[in-house]
Amino acid sequence: MGRKIWVFDTTLRDGEQVPGAKLNLYEKVEIAQQLKKLGVDIIEAGFPASSQGDFDAVRAVAEKVGNTNDIMITALARAVKADIDAVYNAVKYAENPMIHMVLGTSDIHVEKKFSKSKDQILQIGVDAVKYAKTLLPQVQYSTEDASRSDFEYLWKTIEAVMRAGATMINVPDTVGFAEPEEFGEMIFKLNDRMKNLDDSVLLSVHCHNDLGMATANTLAAIKNGADKVECTINGIGERAGNAALEEVVMALKTRSSIYNAETRINTKEIINTSRLVSSFMGLDVQVNKAITGDNAFAHSSGIHQDGLLKSRDAYEIVHPEDVGLDDMELVLTARSGRHAVKNALEKLGFSNLSTDEFEGIFEGFLKLADAKKEVYDHDLYVIVESYYEKHDANNKNATHYSDQFFDFEDLQVVSNASFPSASVKICKGGEVFKASAVGSGPIDALYSAIAEITNIDVKLVEYNINSVSRGKEALGKVKITIEHAGEKYIAKAADTDILKASALAYINAINSIVVAKLTPVMN
Ligand code: KIV
Ligand code: ZN
Repeated sequence: MGRKIWVFDTTLRDGEQVPGAKLNLYEKVEIAQQLKKLGVDIIEAGFPASSQGDFDAVRAVAEKVGNTNDIMITALARAVKADIDAVYNAVKYAENPMIHMVLGTSDIHVEKKFSKSKDQILQIGVDAVKYAKTLLPQVQYSTEDASRSDFEYLWKTIEAVMRAGATMINVPDTVGFAEPEEFGEMIFKLNDRMKNLDDSVLLSVHCHNDLGMATANTLAAIKNGADKVECTINGIGERAGNAALEEVVMALKTRSSIYNAETRINTKEIINTSRLVSSFMGLDVQVNKAITGDNAFAHSSGIHQDGLLKSRDAYEIVHPEDVGLDDMELVLTARSGRHAVKNALEKLGFSNLSTDEFEGIFEGFLKLADAKKEVYDHDLYVIVESYYEKHDANNKNATHYSDQFFDFEDLQVVSNASFPSASVKICKGGEVFKASAVGSGPIDALYSAIAEITNIDVKLVEYNINSVSRGKEALGKVKITIEHAGEKYIAKAADTDILKASALAYINAINSIVVAKLTPVMN
């Protein structure tokens, strides 16, 4: 068993500072519930002095999520009485509340931001801690801009606030200036002095990502004695963001022999938490983001797919199941090799193909992959079918499953405030179907019209749209998740017309349901 590392999540405070990411009270409580399920030790729920709305939201989190002893609820204050009172009055409803206060220690903050002397600032900090201790036993002191502070002044401040009663000392790299080796050395020295003074006080770090080193700096701090880490889901936060919780936690787990430290995070809840935060805050996760990005477990190169099918550890250091995903994703593209295509065909029941048959089908696959970019299971059925139509119509594989798939033909969408409506034309088995619907918005109308034709009962769980390139010719890439009979189906599509991309993604997902119903028949 490794040393315990405390996880302090500040998605609802530093994360919420991202422009446009403001949450309402209900959204904050729901994310806080999910963070509790994830197993974080401390939730920083907001900055109550900033507005009545934030005060109310922090209080709601304290009451509804902080109602058990296994989680601590805190919120941020500047080292002034009014802020400390606001935090106290909001978090006091939790079983385990804490006051977190921040005051700068770098020359830039002391001289330029506050225009005071170092001694004056230190005294303000000490007085603030003494006051907070009259309200609650747990008080965290953050030495803002610590990584750019004079080391001996930083230590003098930490020593003084510890003597005043601070129970956690947080050392922020506020502007993401630190470098792992240098930051590690600083934490090592602070930890040594702190543990000599009072080893019950936790040493924490809070790293920003301005130079892309927030996770590396956080891990260097852990290696050098830090007891606690501050991070956010998906690494969101002020400017370039904070250390990403999922990266720090999975690095500790995956490289345990190096760090010899562990958290109590239930890693299987990582993806759920990431998706909830992303959708409530309206902040898309970068597709190649470590652990939570869309492509983090998607393998598309033929060489990699071949290696993975032989042995997963060839190209996989974190198992997708460990973070709450179903399985690795082998995306069939023009780069997929024969092994991956053969594997996908076998899963659909086409197992005993002769070499000639497979080569013919593979040729069809390459043609479609060039045109369509990503090839789905229902596309494979169509490829197999057209191969046998041409070469051997009596073969047992020459079935007519593709008659059951839906094919997009055309659409018309009217977007206005009163009657957003859509009409669609879809083919199935050579027949053309048309339907129209009114909805709460153009996409809702479009999906209702398609649903009238497909007649498969689904719930839209997630709808996401991104621009793939720039300018007038930019492709809109739509990714949707739908639920049918308790199973989730994810599908994507891209087009310069975002409504067409939306329709295609929905139809791809519907066809995946059709495939899922067919597959047991084939096997
Ligand atoms: O970046 C920072 O210094 C902070 C403090 C409030 C911890 O967010
Ligand atoms: Zn910060």
